[in-house]
This record gives sequence, C-alpha cells and structure tokens, in this order.
Amino acid sequence: MVLLALFLLHQGVLPVVAWFLPQLETWFYDFAVFGIYRTQEYVTYPLSGPQGAVLRQDERCDKGLVFIAPYGDSVEEEGPVILDSQGNLIWSSNEYGVATNFGMQQYRGENYLTFWAGDKNGGQGRGELYMLDSKYRVGHEVHAVGQGLGADLHEFEVSKDDTALLTVYNTTRGDLRGLGWWRSEDGWIEDSLFQEVDIATGELLFQWSAMEHFKPDLSYYWTPTGGYVRTIPYDFFHINSVEKDSKGNYLISARHFHTITYIHGTTGEIIWVLGGGERFNQFEDLSDGLATAFSWQHHARWFSEEEGIISIMDNGYAGPMQTSSTYSRAMLVQIDQVKLTATHLQSFGSLGHTKAASQGSVQRLPNGNVFVGWGSAAAYSEYLQDGTLLCESHFAASWSFSWERAKSFRTYTSHDWVGVPEYPPSAKIEGNRLFVSWNGATEVKFWQFEGLRNDLKDGLPINDAAFDSIAIVAKQGFEESMELPPGEQFTRFRVGALDGQNQLLRYSEHVQRSQSAGASRSGIVIGICASVASVIGVWYLLVVWKRRKPYARVFEWVPMKAFFGRDQYRYDMLEVER
Ligand SMILES: *[C@@H]1O[C@H](CO)[C@@H](O)[C@H](O)[C@H]1NC(C)=O
Repeated sequence: MVLLALFLLHQGVLPVVAWFLPQLETWFYDFAVFGIYRTQEYVTYPLSGPQGAVLRQDERCDKGLVFIAPYGDSVEEEGPVILDSQGNLIWSSNEYGVATNFGMQQYRGENYLTFWAGDKNGGQGRGELYMLDSKYRVGHEVHAVGQGLGADLHEFEVSKDDTALLTVYNTTRGDLRGLGWWRSEDGWIEDSLFQEVDIATGELLFQWSAMEHFKPDLSYYWTPTGGYVRTIPYDFFHINSVEKDSKGNYLISARHFHTITYIHGTTGEIIWVLGGGERFNQFEDLSDGLATAFSWQHHARWFSEEEGIISIMDNGYAGPMQTSSTYSRAMLVQIDQVKLTATHLQSFGSLGHTKAASQGSVQRLPNGNVFVGWGSAAAYSEYLQDGTLLCESHFAASWSFSWERAKSFRTYTSHDWVGVPEYPPSAKIEGNRLFVSWNGATEVKFWQFEGLRNDLKDGLPINDAAFDSIAIVAKQGFEESMELPPGEQFTRFRVGALDGQNQLLRYSEHVQRSQSAGASRSGIVIGICASVASVIGVWYLLVVWKRRKPYARVFEWVPMKAFFGRDQYRYDMLEVER
C-alpha cells in the first residue's frame, strides 16, 4: 500500500507539480520523475535524443559540442551522440551499437570522430576502432594486431605521429599462488596490453604487456572468484588509458594497481611509477599524501607536458568492497621527474559529490578550463583551473547514478567539429506543421521554409525559382517546425538549411500536405480489404489447408462434423490416408 502510494506520488503527482513549478525541473529530473534516462522524440528523425538537465551554467564555460556515448540498461539506443552546450541533439547513430571513447581527434590534419564499438563484456571489450569523416562515413578502421586479439574499449588515442594507441585484454596463464585461496601455479590471468598501430597500414609498431613487467599478486584488486577458470580470469592490472608524449614515451593508467606508469618508448622499460602505495610509488609526496593517494583511477593524461602536470580521474571507489574515498574527483598533480617529487595542485568534485564507481575522463580545454566526464555517473562538469565549478549537466537522473543505468565511458568537448552529412535535411508534415531536422549538420543556423504556389500548372517543370520563401526560423534545437499557411495556396513544400552567412547548404526533399479526407478514405479501403483477407484466411485454414496437409489429424478432435457434416469429415479422413 505504502509502495503503491509512493509510486503514484512519484509518477502521478510529482510530474504535475513539476509542470506548475518549472524552476524545480532539474530537481525533479534528478529525482527521476521523468524516468531515469529521459529522452526526446522527433517527427523527422527515428531515434530519440537524450534530454538532459543543465544544473549549472556560467558565461566562462567553453560552450563547445559535447561528445558522449550513452549506454546501460535504461538506454534503448546505445551509441555515439553529439550534443550542443545546452544539451540539444546534434548527431546520433545506432549503427555501431554500444560505443566508448567517443570524441574528435585529428589525423593527418583532418578532424575525425573517433570511437570504439564492439562486444562489451563486463569491464572490457573486443571490437574495432572507428574514425568517421566530416560526412559521417567510416574513413578508417583500426584493429588490434595478433591472433585472437580484439581492440579493447578503454583507449583509442590518435598520437601526434598519426598512429593509434589502443588497449588489449588477453587471457593467458600464470602463477597465482601468491593470491591464496588454493589458486594454482597455472592460474588464469587477464593480461593488460597496449599497442601502437599504424592507422594507414594496420602495422603493429609497438606492444607492451603488463605481465612481462609486474607480478599479478601485487594487485590491489581482490576477488574471490578470479583466476580459477578460463572464463573468469584474474584481471590484476586493468589498463585503462595510454598516451604517447613528445619524447615518444607512454603514460599509462592501471586501475587495479592504483598506478600511473611512465614507459620508455622503444625499450618498454619502466621509467617511473606514480601512486600505488608502498607497493609501487616512487615519488615523494609533497602534499601530505594528496598527490599520490589516488585509487581505482582512470584517464591519466599530460595536462601540461612542459610543466610536468598530469590530470587523473581519481574514482576512489570501485564498488562497496573496494572503496577509499567518499567521492570521486578529477585531479591535477605536478611532478618533478628528476627529483621524483609530486605535488597536488587541484581537485575537482562534482556538484553532488558524485561517486563514480568506474570510468570517467579529464580534458584540458583550449581556454585552460578543465572538463570532466563522470563515467558511470551520467554527468559532466567544467571548472576553472583554480577548482571553481562553472557548469554541470546530467544526462540521467542523479538519483540513479549508483545503479549505472545510463553512463558514458568518457565525455569530451570541442568547438572544432564540422559535420556535413551526405544525406539531405529531413522534412515532414504532421498535422498542420512542417518539421525539419538534419542529423549531424553542425553549420545550420537558419531554416528557410518554402512553398510551391498552387497556380503553377500541373506538368510544368518545377525549378528552384518556382518556390516562395514562407518563413525563416533560427535553428535552436535539433528539430524546428513551422505552422503551414492556411488554405490550398501551396501544393508542396521544402526546407533549406542556411549557414551563419545565410548561404544555402542544402534543400530537403519536397513534401506534400497529406489529404486528410483521402487518408480516411484509404483507411476504410484498407479496413475492408483486411476483413475480407481474414475471412478468406480462416476459411483457408479450416477447409483447404486441413484437407491438403497430412497433419489434418490435428483437427480430428475438433468437432468438425458440426460445421461440415459427417460426410465431409469422412472424406477428409480418406484424403489423409491416401
Ligand atoms: C595472449 O595469450 C596467449 C595465451 O592464451 C599467448 O599465447 C599469447 O602470446 C598472448 N599474446 C600476447 C600478444 O601477449
């Protein structure tokens, strides 16, 4: 009874209250009054878009496009999504399925949308790395190199040398006796590899394996089940980021070691290890432990190589059994690679001090701001480098964050993406309105709605000049619409996409007002046809099909005689026997 009352309150009363009190909208959003992952439907586009909530805004935010790849049990259409700074949909695709690492990167001077897609299996994946060009076509694909190996979901970095860095998880065997619990000398281990691959040729340029450098029983990851059988290997290292720096060395993050390791670019030798407690850390912490105490972290990157500053997503948490912090933070650590000292510069927590049990990202923006994706928590935030939180958006209800029903592995932002799709804008008339959208077109600033006048005689060729402009509407959301002019003055319509200089980018196909009377008339015709067809169908089943097929015996127990008379029935039986 109480549960029912709460349910009715949540799903019946609160939405009405939310409608009357729009200023409480974000509060209701985070309380999942509109569902855990609220979406928006469109007339001219078959997929829905995430309808997020902007919790905090500031003029000093970068306001670029936002690249997320929502997935999880509450997300129906998983895949890469581009939003504008207000959360409006710019582009989405469900062609690739679940995706991670979605963002924009440069390769040979061109911008590409880059992401991983494939089979996700718990905390890792086997798939491919995709690079889409400005027309949203696959320009390049990158694969892991080696028998039975697949590109893992954790990394896809295009280096300054125009190569791809990717991670690979490989199940192999090794000594796990150090873990206890009767594990064997020949246990099952998940090795963490990373590869550098030539994008143009697919050639393997470099490979590094964690097992070749570290003993698995040094891991901080505790599990009662891992290591006994092939299907549940012990994931001792859990590599989750790789970056190549200007010296040609690699910076990698290992979640289950709590370490950031710097690796020599040609020999693969370990140059230093930051973090990981007394088992691994080689740095003197000049900030009372704050600089090196990160744990279960993600996404280690050089924030400034010259100044020796590294950015880290310090999750500090990996579920109730493995927790070392009350909330997750992005952090900046400055290191001295000669003296081996580390200084904590700044930490960045989310508005609600979100605990992100996994995933997440930290990006340095061109204006110096820090952009943070909260991974398993469907939120992203922007900060000044001094730690001031400027902007924050959620794309699922914060109330549900710990269930991870909608998340994005990383979240990036950029101003530089220019998308010009191969296909034209999509226009459609519904009711008395003409709708238009153009999935992926970043340059549209205005929509020009046009109509073809009725007095043009049938049979005359329709040229561009024959259309009259009816209205120009500024593009705000993904889809805009216009009320059709009354009467029969125009016979058909089209919509032109205009850029910021009012230059035409492309026209939609022509659309016509559907004749509502005609529609209902054809509805009646379809109805009559359907009734006739079903009568014929039933007759066919009972009489013709029953007679022709040997399995007519199925009908024996049916009182057929009542319908067809005894003779008919006997005749059927004879047929069957013959
Ligand atoms: C992957 O694991 C297999 C054993 O299952 C091993 O033979 C192979 O060498 C490993 N590959 C790499 C690249 O380490």
